[in-house]
Amino acid sequence: MISPEVRPLRTMDANRCDAIIASLPYHFGLEEGRLECAAAVRGQDGLVAVVDGLVIGFLTFVRHYDAAAEITWMAVHAEHRRRGVGHRLLDGLCRAIASEGRRLLLVLTVSASDTGSEPEDGYQSTRSFYRSVGFVLGRDLPGYWTDDTPVLMVRPLGLAK
Ligand SMILES: CC(C)(COP(=O)(O)OP(=O)(O)OC[C@H]1O[C@@H](n2cnc3c(N)ncnc32)[C@H](O)[C@@H]1OP(=O)(O)O)[C@@H](O)C(=O)NCCC(=O)NCCS
Repeated sequence: MISPEVRPLRTMDANRCDAIIASLPYHFGLEEGRLECAAAVRGQDGLVAVVDGLVIGFLTFVRHYDAAAEITWMAVHAEHRRRGVGHRLLDGLCRAIASEGRRLLLVLTVSASDTGSEPEDGYQSTRSFYRSVGFVLGRDLPGYWTDDTPVLMVRPLGLAK
């Protein structure tokens, strides 16, 4: 386990976020996705995880209505996965958006019902990660993406007022 500092994403982090994406060729195999992610790290709010001055993971997010937010992109450098960095980023995000009064966190990822073949460390590990930080499977959204079928996963952040 490692204990990175978690701080807001800044413009100067963008190139390093691109490098993190490039370290994960299976998960970010489509150029269209990489370009969308590159735009997100240059335009959306986000958080980064930093160890010894080096960004090793990040997430970006958008706000929806008054009480929800959605993770748009998230990645931990291939050399640092499964050491608690994703959990730290999620903790930071939940604290930040809960402090704005938001009560629901959303994320879309590739569904188990997707017809494509999946390697051992494919999106089932991504879904396991989101479950391990409190998300539950909501519903599949067939046709929403061009290539894969996404599943909407949701995480409540507190009791409704
Ligand atoms: C998903 C991701 C952001 C998680 O960050 P991380 O730092 O690796 O995750 P953490 O170390 O905080 O949490 C690990 C937990 O997630 C789950 N998990 C992560 N990788 C897993 C794997 N390969 N198999 C099964 N469970 C896995 C487990 O519950 C694990 O806990 P454990 O190690 O105690 O069993 C990161 O692995 C990643 O960048 N994956 C590739 C890109 C991606 O899928 N991005 C999300 C797109 S929607």
